[in-house]
Amino acid sequence: MMKFSKTKILLLMMAVMLVLVACGGTDTNGDVDVDIDQDQGSEQTVSKLDEIKAAGKIVLGTSADYPPYEFHKEIDGKDTIVGFDIEIAKEIAKALDVELEIKDMDFDGLILALNADKVDFVLAGMTPDPERDVDFSKIYYRALQGVLINTENVDKFKTVEDLYGKRIGAQKGTIQEKIAESEIQDLDLKGLAKIPDLVLEVKHNKIDAVIMEKPVAEAYADRHDDLILMDLTFEDAEGGSAVAVKRGNPELIEEINKILDRLMEDGSVDKYVVEAIEMVD
Ligand code: ARG
Repeated sequence: MMKFSKTKILLLMMAVMLVLVACGGTDTNGDVDVDIDQDQGSEQTVSKLDEIKAAGKIVLGTSADYPPYEFHKEIDGKDTIVGFDIEIAKEIAKALDVELEIKDMDFDGLILALNADKVDFVLAGMTPDPERDVDFSKIYYRALQGVLINTENVDKFKTVEDLYGKRIGAQKGTIQEKIAESEIQDLDLKGLAKIPDLVLEVKHNKIDAVIMEKPVAEAYADRHDDLILMDLTFEDAEGGSAVAVKRGNPELIEEINKILDRLMEDGSVDKYVVEAIEMVD
């Protein structure tokens, strides 16, 4: 029987591997193969939509501090995320025949989460701002902006000019930060990650006003006697909401748009909005 030393076996194995690599690495034209799975033109072979269907679940990213869009509510003694965005997300999951998993996070982390594949889609009252590095569905809901102030200041703050030079709050990473900056001169902008923290600041007179979509401002004013909405809206500051997905997933957007069309046409979206407002206490 022939005896090989360990080194000889190792060298032999390396030689075999080298031959394999050399053969696999080049085709008959001498070109280097990049990736055998990759078909020309498309950057992804398995689409996000196929991935979701294969996993049997779709992961929603949201920021549940935005009643009636999405908020926490105790149901049967259990903390639950509810709201009309959640109802729409449930319908999307149902139409795709998959489970819905919800991830609640800070609003300014949502785009990052999409791009890192931590979530598959986002419904968070998100305005399809072209500066956001994601793709958007069509708009499924439109709202104006609301300005929440302390009831004490109701006679002091009546017009936009009254807010010039004042301490204004807006949620971090939202279009409300931009609106504040463009509409209110000399403002002292305070951006915080969570809406309830901004609301507290107004209650305790640490800031003078906070901007958010009007239905949300109304929901907070209803819950707190010491908060009231200013009677003003900003021009051209519509906060339409759309579903966001990672860029480059046209089939997923197409599916979502079809579902949104159906829910808007048959009155479901309107119904979810009314029901969500009723759930705000
Ligand atoms: N519509 C605004 C935006 O897209 C604010 C949305 C805030 N949403 C939330 N769930 N906190 O910037």
